[in-house]
Amino acid sequence: MSEIERIGVSLDKELLSMFDELIAGQGYESRSEAIRDLVRRRLSEERLQNPKAKAVAAVLLVYDHHSTKLTESLIGLQHTHTLDSSRQIISSLHVHLDEHDCLEVIILRGRVGEINKVAEKILSMKGVKLGRVNIVAT
Ligand code: NI
Repeated sequence: MSEIERIGVSLDKELLSMFDELIAGQGYESRSEAIRDLVRRRLSEERLQNPKAKAVAAVLLVYDHHSTKLTESLIGLQHTHTLDSSRQIISSLHVHLDEHDCLEVIILRGRVGEINKVAEKILSMKGVKLGRVNIVAT
């Protein structure tokens, strides 16, 4: 861990009490830890604006495995991007939700721009019922 520097922050009482209430609800034990997380999150969001920044992402999707074409395309895409030199897809988790639906979580690593492209390709596949991407800059 790098050297720690102490800073003083001036906030009006109302804002501070709202902040304290929020972080207490989230389970933070100190303001410092909550503020550190806020700063990290903000910096990570900023880095996501840069398509060349390094990031990791989880693509979550729900689909009906009876749409065999989608199942094939999904597997095909995962193999392509795994063997690819940039290797965006590093892992996946498959859960059979019920008789029809499957939940798949695909983990991607790479540059923000590449990750978004692969994620969009996955989520736009015909047969995907629900999907979302959670991306963080590393
Ligand atoms: Ni399944």
